[in-house]
Amino acid sequence: MINRIGIVGLGYVGLPLACAFASRSFKVVGLDTDLEKVELIKKGEAPIYEEGLQDLLKKVLEEKSLKVTSSYEEMLEESDACFICVGTPSSPDGSVDLRYVKETIEMLGESYRRVDKYFLLVVRSTIPPGTTINVIRKILEESSSKNIGEYGLCFNPEFLREGRALYDIFNPDRIIIGAIDEESGRILLDIYKKFHGISMPPVLITNPTNAELIKYVSNVFLATKISFINMISQICQRIPNADVKVVAEGIGMDKRIGREFLNAGLGWGGSCFPKDVKAFLRFGEEIGLRLNLVESIIEINESQIENAVKLVEELVGRLDRKTISILGLAFKP
Ligand SMILES: NC(=O)c1ccc[n+]([C@@H]2O[C@H](COP(=O)([O-])OP(=O)(O)OC[C@H]3O[C@@H](n4cnc5c(N)ncnc54)[C@H](O)[C@@H]3O)[C@@H](O)[C@H]2O)c1
Repeated sequence: MINRIGIVGLGYVGLPLACAFASRSFKVVGLDTDLEKVELIKKGEAPIYEEGLQDLLKKVLEEKSLKVTSSYEEMLEESDACFICVGTPSSPDGSVDLRYVKETIEMLGESYRRVDKYFLLVVRSTIPPGTTINVIRKILEESSSKNIGEYGLCFNPEFLREGRALYDIFNPDRIIIGAIDEESGRILLDIYKKFHGISMPPVLITNPTNAELIKYVSNVFLATKISFINMISQICQRIPNADVKVVAEGIGMDKRIGREFLNAGLGWGGSCFPKDVKAFLRFGEEIGLRLNLVESIIEINESQIENAVKLVEELVGRLDRKTISILGLAFKP
């Protein structure tokens, strides 16, 4: 049973994950190449705000269940599995920039070459379908000179919401494990059984490609729900006596539809939806498909800002030289 874990990339996903594992009797080594971030975290200062994170970080550092480093050798020596949580930003054309993932796997592979033990690599960064099998496995095997069986490999998507990261890590709706072979899937499942104990959520074990698709499709579907209700809000604005809030309430009472993600407003944003939806559109192009529905949800989303401006203009006239107050200018309403 594995109880020594490495977390690579201590950002919005990695730092809460590292603290969560460390608080549930795992020994955790957190690794980041940003030396300023490493020093800050070592001192017990969380570089980001997440509810409960600052206190939990202090606690697990004091208990010595979390250690922070920038050395891959140290992480490999002191753990038996690691979760890769580095960023996967957008390239200028909207496709995914895999630079950090590739760099990470190469650095890890080069250190792993000199280590003689079974090690499970779990990729948690959001990556396009096929990347685990075609890119990550190839880079890892070239840099480490090891083959599947000598090491394990899974893609295990993260579904947390920024601002609710710790809550979502402790209470996920489901765990998706995309395992390259049976042994990798079994080991990762055991890690989660130990982490969640009797409140183990439902688990789906599949291949890495399906798991990669599940992550993108989840985000694209949620963005579609928001764009859909925003389209309905435009109808409601044009006809007397219609109120999109009531319409959303009414359709949301149908279990097949659900009330979540049906709040009309300025549209979807944040650090994941825009980049993941665009990446999915580019992925479609790469495999020779035009994803018209995805194009439309982006178009609706972009037009929502203009619609909001028009709505304000209808109420107060031209906006030049008007002073505007915005209430709730926060990350999430
Ligand atoms: N933020 C979210 O809400 C969220 C939710 C679900 C999934 N994701 C996905 O999780 C991944 C990470 O997202 P994030 O928001 O935590 O990113 P982030 O930018 O906050 O953190 C990434 C961290 O990785 C570090 N890093 C970069 N290269 C490295 C390397 N070679 N070795 C070690 N560390 C390295 C960076 O210094 C940074 O601290 C992305 O793929 C993202 O799409 C994010």
